[in-house]
Amino acid sequence: MKEIVLNEQEIQEIVKRMASELKEKFKDSDSIPVFIGVLKGSLPFMMDLMKYYDLPLIEDFIQVSSYDGTESTGVIHLKKDITEDIKNKNIVIVEDIIDTGTTLAYLKQYFKVKYQPRSITIISFLDKKPLRKVDLEADIVGVSLNKNQFLVGYGLDYNEINRNVPYIFIPDEQDLEKRNETLKNNK
Ligand code: IMP
Ligand code: MG
Repeated sequence: MKEIVLNEQEIQEIVKRMASELKEKFKDSDSIPVFIGVLKGSLPFMMDLMKYYDLPLIEDFIQVSSYDGTESTGVIHLKKDITEDIKNKNIVIVEDIIDTGTTLAYLKQYFKVKYQPRSITIISFLDKKPLRKVDLEADIVGVSLNKNQFLVGYGLDYNEINRNVPYIFIPDEQDLEKRNETLKNNK
C-alpha cells in the first residue's frame, strides 16, 4: 500500500495559505510581480497558486534539470529560459520541492546576474530541509519535511511519470517495480 502524504484537499488549503502570504507581501507594491515556474515539477502548484493569488501577475517559466531517477546529480542544466523582461521587477520563483537547494541557489544567482530583478522571492510547496547541501532558504514554504523520502505526485515525478497524480505519496517497492515495468514497456 502506498502512503499518501498529502491529499488533494490538504494541498489546496496549503496553497491558499501560501497565496495569501504572497498577496500580503506585494499588497503595497506598484509593480506587477512576475511568477516564474520551474518546469516541469512546479506546474500543478503554479496553477493553484495563480488561482488563489487573485491579483494581477505576469507568468513565465524556466526549465532546468538536476535529477536522474531518484537522485539529485548536483549538476544543473538550463533547458529553457524565461521570455519576459524582468529587469527591476519583483520576481517569484515557484518550485515544487527543495532538496539539496542546488537548483534554486543556481536560479537565484542566474536571475540576479543576468536580469537584475528588483527582488527575488522563493516559494516552494515542499522543503526537504535535512538534505540541504548549499545555503538556500525559501521565503514561503508549504510543508517542511524532516525525513528523506522520495515523493511522487502533484508535479513530482518518478522518471517523468506520475506528475499528474493530484495528491502526494511515497511509492513503495512494489510501486517502483510496477513503474519500472511500465517505463520498460513504453515504446
Ligand atoms: P535540488 O536541486 O536538490 O534542491 O532539487 C530540486 C529538484 O529535485 C526539484 O525541483 C524536483 O524536481 C526534484 N526533486 C527533489 N526531491 C524530489 C522528490 O522527492 N520527488 C521528485 N522529485 C524531487
Ligand atoms: Mg522541480
